[in-house]
Amino acid sequence: MAVSLTDYVKALFVAEGDVLAQIRARHAAAGLPEIHVSSEEGQLLYVLLTAVGAARVLEVGSLGGYSGVWLARALPPEGSLTTVEIDAERAALAAEAYREAGVADRCTVLCGDGRTILPTLRPPFDAVFLDADKEGMPVYYEEAMRLLRPGGLLLGDNAFWGGAVVRDEDASPGTVAMREFNRRAASDPRLAATILPIRDGLLVGVKREPE
Ligand code: DHB
Ligand code: MG
Repeated sequence: MAVSLTDYVKALFVAEGDVLAQIRARHAAAGLPEIHVSSEEGQLLYVLLTAVGAARVLEVGSLGGYSGVWLARALPPEGSLTTVEIDAERAALAAEAYREAGVADRCTVLCGDGRTILPTLRPPFDAVFLDADKEGMPVYYEEAMRLLRPGGLLLGDNAFWGGAVVRDEDASPGTVAMREFNRRAASDPRLAATILPIRDGLLVGVKREPE
């Protein structure tokens, strides 16, 4: 029987476990759209955070907490995940997910719009994972670059936006914003970046040391 390469990776490397599977199930039962990261993308986030020794992490777009659990699990006990969610119901569901996963002690959910919350945060963060509304991505980009420490990781979900970024006739606001986000990351001398073709594309960048 043919097995997909993603299934091969998942079988070998991705131990989602009961808690994360339950969080996904509750997410679906609550009627949230199935737009959370995949388990193999969660494992990639975990590996990347581990690579930079991340202790202070910011997420924009908590959704039901699924990605946050992958991020929080990569942190040392004294580490912290700050996660921003505009929707109060989703924020409550995310907080429940962190409790269930036993990582609530290192997670802070800020309920509100990233456009107003991010400017109130202070650097340094070791990694920033952007996975909120796509129209906001150029603004979140600039805030993430302000907040990241040199050597810190910029992670941007949906860099392919379902393939729309290369469909020139698509001028919808989300597509235009994702193109602009990718363009900024590609051309910013402060960043070394690329897009990994996992799920919907994960932009991965490292903030350079100052000259
Ligand atoms: C959508 C948003 C996401 O963050 C994602 O990973 C997939 C889809 C969406 O809004 O359609
Ligand atoms: Mg996403």
